[in-house]
Amino acid sequence: MRVLVYRRQSGSRYLPLVREGLARRGVEATVVACDTPEEAEAALPEADVLLSWGLPAGLYGKAPGLRWVQSIGAGIDDLLADPSLPAGVSVTRVTGFFGPQIAEYVMAHLLAVSQDLRRAYATQARRAWEQWEPSHLRGKCLGVAGVGEIGRVVAARARAFGLTVLGLRRGPSPCPEVDRAYSLEQMGEFLPLLDYLVVTLPLTPETRHLFGRRQFSQLKRGSWLVNVGRGPVVDPAALIEALRDGHLGGAVLDAHEVEPLPADNPLWAMPNVTITPHISGLSDPVYVADYFGDNARRFVDGLPLKGLVDRRRGY
Ligand code: GLV
Repeated sequence: MRVLVYRRQSGSRYLPLVREGLARRGVEATVVACDTPEEAEAALPEADVLLSWGLPAGLYGKAPGLRWVQSIGAGIDDLLADPSLPAGVSVTRVTGFFGPQIAEYVMAHLLAVSQDLRRAYATQARRAWEQWEPSHLRGKCLGVAGVGEIGRVVAARARAFGLTVLGLRRGPSPCPEVDRAYSLEQMGEFLPLLDYLVVTLPLTPETRHLFGRRQFSQLKRGSWLVNVGRGPVVDPAALIEALRDGHLGGAVLDAHEVEPLPADNPLWAMPNVTITPHISGLSDPVYVADYFGDNARRFVDGLPLKGLVDRRRGY
């Protein structure tokens, strides 16, 4: 097995961990790592397995022997959107890791909003003893759009704070972490109930701009949006409009339609918007190398791979 590890600026950080993870499981492989697209392009003709993140579009065609791509992250939307990736190549994503850290991000920001931490820092900086009444999460209603593995951890943590939690999902699988689940067709019943909408959905043709002008108008006035899924699930023009006219109380955005978010984007300067640079769920090389080693063993043994993506469904 010939494995190519690619991640801009940090592919080589994975190299010893990946080699060790494969050796520990008795998987024989030659492993090379690349930190730049140019290096990757030169090495791809030799690769039959790819462990990668952010490979520039169009490069998969340079690997005629490619059989399997393991993503370094949870999302695989850019990979599936790339026409150079042949249909027969298996795609897997990392599972079992991101839920707790993304849930911490969500709870941290919801608490910051309800406790008005911006105001706390600002008044302290002025040495001003001015009391205000924090609001509370307990008794409020939070909707999780996308109750997959990550959304379910968010739901469980939110419930622990006394929020009522509703889920929006595509499939019919049971979801004990939410108080009630709604289908996409029931969006119009789901949205008006929410104080907070948390988006954890993957990007697929079906979810692109799923939240636009109509959906924002169905949310309660003053409700908040938190996007930890993918930027393009939200229509950015409709979001800016809903924030400007005050219908949305605010937004916490870790995923953006264009990343990096351009410096002239008006969202940066909006008072009730928090922008973070896609950090709510960062990959950990140790976990990824171990996950990959496990999957490589399965791959060699012809067993089902963990995190296997249904390429037609898009996640
Ligand atoms: C990050 O967004 C990931 O998909 O892992």
